Amino acid sequence: MKPEIHTYPNLPELSRAAAEYVCETAEEAIKKSGVFTFVLSGGSTPRLLYEELACQPIAKRIDWQKTHIFWGDERYLPPDHQDSNYALAFQRLVSKVDVPPANVHRIITESPSARDAADNYEKTLRQFFGPPPGGEDDTYLPSFDVILLGLGEDGHTASLFPGDAALEEKYRWVVAVDGANAFPPVPRITLTFPILNKADCVIFLVSGSRKKKVFEEIMNNPGTAPYPAARIRPSGRLLWFIDKWLM
Ligand code: 6PG
Repeated sequence: MKPEIHTYPNLPELSRAAAEYVCETAEEAIKKSGVFTFVLSGGSTPRLLYEELACQPIAKRIDWQKTHIFWGDERYLPPDHQDSNYALAFQRLVSKVDVPPANVHRIITESPSARDAADNYEKTLRQFFGPPPGGEDDTYLPSFDVILLGLGEDGHTASLFPGDAALEEKYRWVVAVDGANAFPPVPRITLTFPILNKADCVIFLVSGSRKKKVFEEIMNNPGTAPYPAARIRPSGRLLWFIDKWLM
């Protein structure tokens, strides 16, 4: 599906608009299937979006009892570490809305290794979605309702970094990466392209002139630009919420 680009003057207005879009999508998903599966991204860009989702009137419009929250990637750090993606979302959103703790599916980074954390998370996802309708199938991939993603200046997204073997993963839903070239340079756990591209809706949130070059290359070379983010081509909707510094 052709990407939709939504441009705003600044990050606060981008975040307000993205929160409204997430809210409407949540209402539709819950009306249609009784549940809203929402994958959060890390980094700093989504902070204001999380705050908007926790503010009225949006917070009241979303049925948090029927919302399940997941993470698209995580740093292999304690869940209360300042650089933890879970910690950021907990502070700005999860702790402020009445989402049941059982509906918050964080990546357990207290596991003995990032690889164990990735294996455990894949088990969590498989348990949540249950077996495929037609019975056990190794190629089965569930569809999340909304997956939020950010864009790094090197074109990474989630924790799928240029040149990493994780980019070629065809079957596993979750893998560990060493993250040595990332910031912070710690091991990471990330969803893979197969599961990201099965989403009903992927929303990129991108702000700031530092990302203009990589954004333009992705837009001008859809699917071929040499960046991991260019390989996000979901079966559902693909939206880019950007600010004017990228135009
Ligand atoms: C992470 C993120 C990562 C992030 C981009 C953009 O864990 O770091 O998932 O993919 O979205 O690096 O980060 P900023 O929003 O901080 O620019």
